[in-house]
Amino acid sequence: MKNTDNFTTMTQPPHVANFNQQFCDDVLTGLQASPKYMQAKYFYDAAGDELFQKIMNCEEYYPTDCELEIFTEQTEAVAQALIADGSPFDLIELGAGDAMKSTHLLRCLQQKQADFTYMPIDISGHVINLLNDTLPKALPGLQLNGLTGEYFDMLKKAANLSDRRKVVLFMGSNIGNMPVPEAEEFCKELRRHLSINDSVLIGIDLKKNPKTILAAYNDKEGFTRDFNLNLLKRINRELEANFDLTQFEHYPMYDPETGSCKSYLVSLTDQEVHLCDTTVQFHKDEYIFMEVSQKYTVQQTDQMATQAGFTPVQHFMDSKGWFLDAVWQVSQ
Ligand code: AVI
Repeated sequence: MKNTDNFTTMTQPPHVANFNQQFCDDVLTGLQASPKYMQAKYFYDAAGDELFQKIMNCEEYYPTDCELEIFTEQTEAVAQALIADGSPFDLIELGAGDAMKSTHLLRCLQQKQADFTYMPIDISGHVINLLNDTLPKALPGLQLNGLTGEYFDMLKKAANLSDRRKVVLFMGSNIGNMPVPEAEEFCKELRRHLSINDSVLIGIDLKKNPKTILAAYNDKEGFTRDFNLNLLKRINRELEANFDLTQFEHYPMYDPETGSCKSYLVSLTDQEVHLCDTTVQFHKDEYIFMEVSQKYTVQQTDQMATQAGFTPVQHFMDSKGWFLDAVWQVSQ
């Protein structure tokens, strides 16, 4: 049903439970833009979470293993970098997920009798409830205060909860899913939410052989392809759209010059897709830009830190030198 009434905006499909107007607006904005794009944050519904787990476990996707190696092989040194002068601190993890990597660090901090409270932040209340349930069992005696909400809102809340110094964990190369200018702005915003003596441990995927990077986003088993197509499936289900998944092809590319690895879905034919009272036209070979996974050199990460008002104080890298966990101190 086409809405022609100027006074109401009835874009809600009639049969969809938990219809999300923001999701609908964001998808329509992306599909009406030129070139078309999607917002990567919408990848992670239940099926998307499951596919991302499969990506992390597949042979070609190296970033998770590399960062895990840092957290298991260099735990003591990483813990010591965060303990610094030994003053009490709040350890705040942005996008904690299942806290698998951080658990190694938390255990080591406990063994070293560091005085800290772990504050995982996640947009999903489900994730935080799960951590509140599991972590005290895995790490008895852990001081835990999980916060549900947007990163910067929760950082403000954490600052109001205590005046202890803050150590922020932002791992998993999540910063790579922002285009460079947005990543730079994110670091500046992070700095604005912190004070002198606060620090950040940030995980960043590094530039390396282009074939290694491309393979990580083009795995043989097709998990990354399915991860991208799953967003169209989600739109079909939640916005009553009619994407024909067989008519879109996953196309990943890596540009070694800029360090950006990008994923696209390419339309295999001229076609129309209907969603939220709107018709979107696709020409054959037209693409939807799905996601960027930006790679950096160590030097570029140092520059990004400095420009944002941090001093890079330590670099932890895996044995292959593929992944960096950097410690940035708020500059004096
Ligand atoms: C979450 N993020 C860091 C992953 C990455 O490597 O960009 C998301 C991902 N997309 C496809 N594969 C992995």
